[in-house]
Amino acid sequence: ARPEAARPAAACPVTGPEPALFGWEFATDPYPAYAWLRENAPVHRTTLPSGVDAWLVTRYDDARQALADQRLSKDPARHAAATAARGKTGIPGEQRAGLFAHLLNIDPPDHTRLRRLVSRAFTPRRVEAFRPRVQELTDRLIDGFAARGTADLIHEFAFPLPIYAICDMLGVPAEDQDDFRDWAGMMIRHSRPGERAAPRGGVARAVKRIRAYLEELIHRKRAEAAGDDLISGLIRASDHGEQLTEAEAAAMAFILLFAGFETTVNLIGNGVNALLRHPDQLALLRAGLARGDERLLATAVEELLRFDGPVELATWRFATEPLTIGGTRVPAGDPVLVVLGGADRDPRRFTDPDTLDLTRQDNPHLGFGHGIHYCLGAPLARLEGQRALATLLTRLPDLRCAVAPEELRWRGGLIMRGLRELPVAFTP
Ligand code: HEM
Repeated sequence: ARPEAARPAAACPVTGPEPALFGWEFATDPYPAYAWLRENAPVHRTTLPSGVDAWLVTRYDDARQALADQRLSKDPARHAAATAARGKTGIPGEQRAGLFAHLLNIDPPDHTRLRRLVSRAFTPRRVEAFRPRVQELTDRLIDGFAARGTADLIHEFAFPLPIYAICDMLGVPAEDQDDFRDWAGMMIRHSRPGERAAPRGGVARAVKRIRAYLEELIHRKRAEAAGDDLISGLIRASDHGEQLTEAEAAAMAFILLFAGFETTVNLIGNGVNALLRHPDQLALLRAGLARGDERLLATAVEELLRFDGPVELATWRFATEPLTIGGTRVPAGDPVLVVLGGADRDPRRFTDPDTLDLTRQDNPHLGFGHGIHYCLGAPLARLEGQRALATLLTRLPDLRCAVAPEELRWRGGLIMRGLRELPVAFTP
């Protein structure tokens, strides 16, 4: 039983013509299109904006199964070779070299070896020990705008928090962290206000600088040998006598920086937005926090991940052999995109899936993925999400959105779902 009736979201129509995918309306609210797909074409072949044909998997059971299916490869090099052999072109922009030779682009057995090594250094214990630092960062960022009465929560809070947090954890010196903030901004093409679009070639230049920086940092930390930061931990980690090479350590640091960056920006942005649009749920969370009771925080963050999660589509996979997903035959070589945002609103798995219910207990959402590529940073993301929400709502008790929902602009993109800005107001 729910203590307070949650406001049901607008029912998603599942009849009528196929909705337009990937346009402006879709970026603003993709859930009606996902509902249509789940009911009418649960494993659906479509042409992506890049011109690539891919399968979209939108039902929960199919999605979970596909995420765990090792016949679906994550290695762009294997994909490129397979598509070239069929006289076709592979996924544009995907590569597996240098910093991109990371966990999300690698299949077993290499993936198993790398994941085991990183898991020895990036432990839940290390994340827990980092709790006071996350709290300190959260408070410092709120101090920056608390006296003003207004803020853009994306640029002033959600954006800097994860990048400073992961830089700190990795052991990037404080004086260099703003470079990462700039490079990260370049990479997601929205950085500080006024610098909306990355200049041409900017992303490639940013990757080159990050690579040079990380290689130098790893080299230095290897020489120092005694650090207790995560990069030093990665360098020292060993398993049956095996260790990461410097190139592998650089790719690992890169994926930790960037897999944990835009995702966490969107957890905070989408999460605060969803709360501000559901006053009854916001009141429930606030009431607990005002009593010093943080018990609802954990289920709240899980529900926000399910309801409007940061990752809409899991990263690329492609069929290494013909296979059947949800009764549909997928030919060898075809790209498959698992729609986490569709699966997590599937009424076959979730009661009242379009309702935000912070007390939801039965919530095995796919927001962090599933299977061997399950999010390595989930404990850190949960910690940041929980501290961000608790601190914002406690320190700014009348926090409210400063614009109407239709004025919010969502960043278009295939994998991520997030806001460009979130203007808020509160009593200073
Ligand atoms: C993988 C979501 C934060 C590091 C994944 C995957 C998802 C995900 C869905 C699987 C992708 C796939 O199978 O295609 C999220 C969300 C986050 C978050 C929603 C924040 C709310 C973080 C953080 C870090 C991180 C903070 C690290 C600091 C990784 C890594 C992988 C991964 C390294 C690849 C794991 C592998 O391939 O074995 N994440 N993530 N993530 N995530 Fe996260």
